[in-house]
Amino acid sequence: MIDTHCHVFKEYYTNIDEVINKMDNNIVIVSGTNDQDNKEVLELCKKYPNVYGTIGIHPTEECSSNSLKFIEENLNNEKIVGIGEIGLDYYWNKDNKEKQKEIFIKQLDLARKYNKPVVIHNREATNDTYEILKDYPELKKDIHCYSGSLEMAKNFIKINCRLGIGGVVTFKNSKLKDVLKEIDLKYLMLETDSPFLTPEPYRGKQNEPYNIIYVAKTLSEIKGISLEGVLKQTTLNAIDQFNLKIKL
Ligand code: NI
Repeated sequence: MIDTHCHVFKEYYTNIDEVINKMDNNIVIVSGTNDQDNKEVLELCKKYPNVYGTIGIHPTEECSSNSLKFIEENLNNEKIVGIGEIGLDYYWNKDNKEKQKEIFIKQLDLARKYNKPVVIHNREATNDTYEILKDYPELKKDIHCYSGSLEMAKNFIKINCRLGIGGVVTFKNSKLKDVLKEIDLKYLMLETDSPFLTPEPYRGKQNEPYNIIYVAKTLSEIKGISLEGVLKQTTLNAIDQFNLKIKL
């Protein structure tokens, strides 16, 4: 299994070795959000054979020309499999929409230049996110932590996106369950967004990559197929999405 999106950084964890080793041969893709994270992503990729990474500047973080330069300089690292987490966040900040869009677009342009997949953060900015992304049809896009409507899910899929599904789907009364019933498994990937969004039955505790198993279990109930079936298909999806050079 592959956790396609998490933030296993020193800022949050004192036991990174333990958390990564618990995943055994399973893959963890760590996502940077700022300059400090992006450096840590490279260190983690170097240290652990089962860790891959994406680097990028999150819409709530500071982005300088050096930040972009750092991203560009490290895209040729074979374990850096995409640009992210990038996007728009109008929940935390509505006053700098134009600036957010500008930084988002710069990073999408980098992805286009180097033909890299992108990991997208969207919070209360769905229309603008969609309008921008539809100008990049050739890029493979991961709408991380998808929790929107069925209609929007279909729109994103039409413009070459997959949906990252995390702990939210395991929450009681989650509307996402009904949405995902209607979406083909080939468009879905598992993620934890660790240390956030811990799935049931551990909601309230700190999240870790191993917990994607609970997301997978919920998906197997929603889809009425075996857990193994879910793990197999979502792993293939992630390998395709991030062009991972691994053999199953
Ligand atoms: Ni995240």
